[in-house]
Amino acid sequence: MFQHISRIQDALDARLPSADASPQRLHQAIRYAVLGNGKRVRPALVYASGLAFGIDIQRLDGIACAVEMIHAYSLIHDDLPAMDNDDLRRGRATCHIEYDEATAILAGDALQVLAFEILASDESIQASAEQRLQLVKLLSHASGTFGMAGGQYFDLAATNSNKDISFSELQQIHALKTGALIEAAIRMPAFLNQDLKQMELANIETFSHEIGIAFQIQDDILDEISDTETLGKNAGADRELGKATYPALLGIKKSRQLRDEHFRIALDALEQLPSDAKALRDLAQFIVEREQ
Ligand code: IPE
Ligand code: IPE
Ligand code: MG
Ligand code: MG
Ligand code: MG
Repeated sequence: MFQHISRIQDALDARLPSADASPQRLHQAIRYAVLGNGKRVRPALVYASGLAFGIDIQRLDGIACAVEMIHAYSLIHDDLPAMDNDDLRRGRATCHIEYDEATAILAGDALQVLAFEILASDESIQASAEQRLQLVKLLSHASGTFGMAGGQYFDLAATNSNKDISFSELQQIHALKTGALIEAAIRMPAFLNQDLKQMELANIETFSHEIGIAFQIQDDILDEISDTETLGKNAGADRELGKATYPALLGIKKSRQLRDEHFRIALDALEQLPSDAKALRDLAQFIVEREQ
């Protein structure tokens, strides 16, 4: 699972603004948030999907970085007092605690646009203008109001409301706030291979959708059953905030069953692919079994 961890670390390091460049403190905050101890699941999914679709690994670094930058921005903003108000992330102080709120907001803003600058111009992607447009379109849609940002809005609305949330509303929150970006990570490499069949694209869509939801169910379960040291973020924070989560709605046992059901549907879709999808399968397994 972590075979590309040093590759993505180097690729991110090379694409982030230097800490010496002005405004230094903003650049330091950006590097602090991105280069910390993340699991790099989304970049790993980009590389695994690229492998399944026969794309040279050198062409995937820019896409992997763009997705991880959107993710890092979403975490910086997710931790802000106006959102989840967390002080611990990836085993150390959250960006707004280490720096300050305004700097953290700007670090997130800058990371978001840097992701698209990379898709538009990073030469290593070796894509046509048309392919770059497709990449930008997919990642922006997955990040916006019909994806991550919309999901975060629904998450916060559910947190601050006295009304009980329904199962389908909960599914929608998870599919958008977390699933959409995971889907994009898996689907973007497909744009670099023009020979893919409709059937392959449909299966990869199913796989990515199902595993994206399974990822957030596991995140909710870990928040409930794990500890702060293992997670590198405050365990039990969802319960304390009254978050709409799978364990809160269904209990741990049913949440696990549901997570496994999404995993099974994801694997079934992967089975239909003619190409080598072992790396994607291993990552899917990691996503549902992870303890961090
Ligand atoms: C945490 O994502 C936020 C969610 C979308 C659930 P990760 O569990 O991938 O966090 P890092 O990147 O490893 O810190
Ligand atoms: C966060 O979900 C999803 C995004 C950052 C878009 P959570 O709020 O559950 O993530 P953690 O648990 O703080 O990492
Ligand atoms: Mg949140
Ligand atoms: Mg949070
Ligand atoms: Mg969580």
